[in-house]
Amino acid sequence: MGVGRKGKTRDGAGRGEGNGTLGSVGQLITTSPEETEAVAARLGARVGPGDLLLLVGELGAGKTTFVRGLARGMGVAGQVMSPTFQLVRVYPGSVPLAHVDLYRLGQGADLADLDLDGLLDAGVVAVEWGDRLEASEDAVQVVIEPLDQRRRRLILGGPNGWSW
Ligand SMILES: Nc1ncnc2c1ncn2[C@@H]1O[C@H](COP(=O)(O)OP(=O)(O)O)[C@@H](O)[C@H]1O
Ligand SMILES: [Mg+2]
Repeated sequence: MGVGRKGKTRDGAGRGEGNGTLGSVGQLITTSPEETEAVAARLGARVGPGDLLLLVGELGAGKTTFVRGLARGMGVAGQVMSPTFQLVRVYPGSVPLAHVDLYRLGQGADLADLDLDGLLDAGVVAVEWGDRLEASEDAVQVVIEPLDQRRRRLILGGPNGWSW
């Protein structure tokens, strides 16, 4: 199954100036967890219901750190921790954030039981190990690449118009 909003049209949130290129990709480099959080918080201020973010990167890349910043930017309540032993956590807010971790599910996970579509109706869904989810092309992908101990390359890919 796939989740996401095919053909969704919603003004504003998440859309930066962009360069107008289909599937536009932007990248930047952070040099501390605080900086990664800040970048994520900036994005968090621009997301809205129906937005699906897939976080991709190895263990320790900074996926949970990113979600922590995203949550702060969205203004949702609750402490963001690694949900590795809990598939989904929902942080309440005017727009709730569902934090999903597919680490324990492996490739091609069957997500029928997760009701991600339901969560997506009301809020934002951020998925760690998002490359394991079969999602629609409307999903936003954030790839986090460790360059050294403190530096991370953050690559944003997805539907037209998304940018840092
Ligand atoms: N620039 C950076 N961005 C994010 N995390 C960083 C950065 N530099 C160092 N770190 C560290 O890397 C680790 C990332 O952990 P975490 O966010 O749990 O990763 P993941 O969820 O991808 O496994 C943390 O210990 C964090 O302090
Ligand atoms: Mg994590």
